[in-house]
Amino acid sequence: MNAEGRSRLNQTPEWTALAKHREELGEVRLRELFEADPDRGTGYTLRVGDLYVDYSKHLVTDETLRLLRELAAATDVFGLRDAMFRGERINTTEDRAVLHTALRAPRDAVIEVDGENVVPAVHAVLDRMADFARRVRSGEWTGHTGRRIRNVVNIGIGGSDLGPAMAYEALRAYTARDMTFRFVSNVDGADLHEAVRDLDPAETLFVVASKTFTTIETVTNATSARAWLLEGLGGDEKAVARHFVALSTNAEKVAGFGIDTANMFEFWDWVGGRYSYDSAIGLSLMIAIGPDRFREMLDGFRIVDEHFRTAPPEANAPLLMGLLGVWYNNFHDAQSHAVLPYSHYLSKFTAYLQQLDMESNGKYVGRDGREVDWQTGPVVWGTPGTNGQHAYYQLIHQGTKLIPADFIGFAEPVEELSDRLAAQHDLLMANFFAQTQALAFGKTPDEVRAEGVPEELVPHKTFQGNHPTTTIVARALTPSVLGQLVALYEHKVFVQGAIWNIDSFDQWGVELGKVLAKRVEPALTEGADVPGLDPSTKALVAAYRELRGR
Ligand code: F6P
Repeated sequence: MNAEGRSRLNQTPEWTALAKHREELGEVRLRELFEADPDRGTGYTLRVGDLYVDYSKHLVTDETLRLLRELAAATDVFGLRDAMFRGERINTTEDRAVLHTALRAPRDAVIEVDGENVVPAVHAVLDRMADFARRVRSGEWTGHTGRRIRNVVNIGIGGSDLGPAMAYEALRAYTARDMTFRFVSNVDGADLHEAVRDLDPAETLFVVASKTFTTIETVTNATSARAWLLEGLGGDEKAVARHFVALSTNAEKVAGFGIDTANMFEFWDWVGGRYSYDSAIGLSLMIAIGPDRFREMLDGFRIVDEHFRTAPPEANAPLLMGLLGVWYNNFHDAQSHAVLPYSHYLSKFTAYLQQLDMESNGKYVGRDGREVDWQTGPVVWGTPGTNGQHAYYQLIHQGTKLIPADFIGFAEPVEELSDRLAAQHDLLMANFFAQTQALAFGKTPDEVRAEGVPEELVPHKTFQGNHPTTTIVARALTPSVLGQLVALYEHKVFVQGAIWNIDSFDQWGVELGKVLAKRVEPALTEGADVPGLDPSTKALVAAYRELRGR
């Protein structure tokens, strides 16, 4: 690829200045940065809504941050941000507006797409959802046989699964504990089997979540769920209307599947799948936590939207987090980014962020259609602490890779814990603070020796430190705080996509696999001679058929 064929972000003066600055900083040590500025621990912090964000343990100086902000200005991050909030079609490859922020706009806001204010429609759907959620929760909405609904099974995949499933786990303490909620995504029949095997169809509601309503995994699982329901209820087709609702942008396909569109909750093409769980896609969650808690969550999103829209660059948390990611990704060759929540309830948070971040920014073609020649989105990974400490933290502390990490923790445990279990919270958080301290400052050989460690073990017990972390703390994991956290990451991802000059809102990269799966299937089932199968795949298909006794 010749130079003319590429976008030229890395030839801008701002990029070059950062590269030079990186060279000059060399192996800057966090210990030295803190010695030079004793106020760094309080100075390098931000408050956003209920979130306290500490970025003092990063390999940056005031000058680094200034140069990063200049890169943001040169790439017009805020210009693109404003275009997004205004409803312009910034998702250029799909020719769509990007308006997940409209999903949490107040009733009296005016946000226009093609001259039409979308806010009334957003609230009309929220009101319908709230009404339906109340009826299910109260038992007013009954199943086909007149029994109340006790089980809700969400069927969806990607953004139509990860968001509601993550938020349900996160807010479990706020959920209707007398109901069962399950989330089915995998086309592996085992997923649906395990989800429904102990449920009574007469008391089960299926929420089929699919933006397009063409996703093969979801349509296949929904079809099987329908068969399971009808089998369990004596085959009366009328039962479907009481036990199936759809969340989609595609009324035609919903009707084609056999779900009455009166039981459909709508959203719009300007809501990306991975940005959709605060739309109708959140219906299962709303049934679980109730409409009031759901609205509190939306209010949380809005706090961070407003912050992102109005805070100056120096105090703008999503901008800062995006820029820090760019610093490591593009100027320190970091390949990945860990997100490590110290909350059992955030067990699916990182998995959710994987789609948000990697489906948004995992791209090598720029908005101008040209291949980029700089690194784009990192590999995002992580699980809740302290489990990770006993698994992969070894590599973060003493491995050969730089892994910037976000630590997320809370001052209070959830209210319903017994006194004994609540008392464990300080131990959890002691680990939280100890880890970021150890990662940043390590342990020098002299400190190890001073503990009387034999000389041959000193190198093994030395921690180099200097591993950068962001620490995010809030009082408690409330619905509002969850909304704030998600919006923080949504906008962080936005900032990075804007800087890397990629369309963060399309996902063409997942299409090829879908097309090929459809093509390969007849080779598995019928032994069909599928044209274009490469020799390796052909041999694998033959081995599979033999193992299946076909
Ligand atoms: O994997 C691609 C994708 O289109 C995601 O972006 C999306 O969240 C998921 O599939 C599910 O799509 P749908 O909601 O249309 O079923």
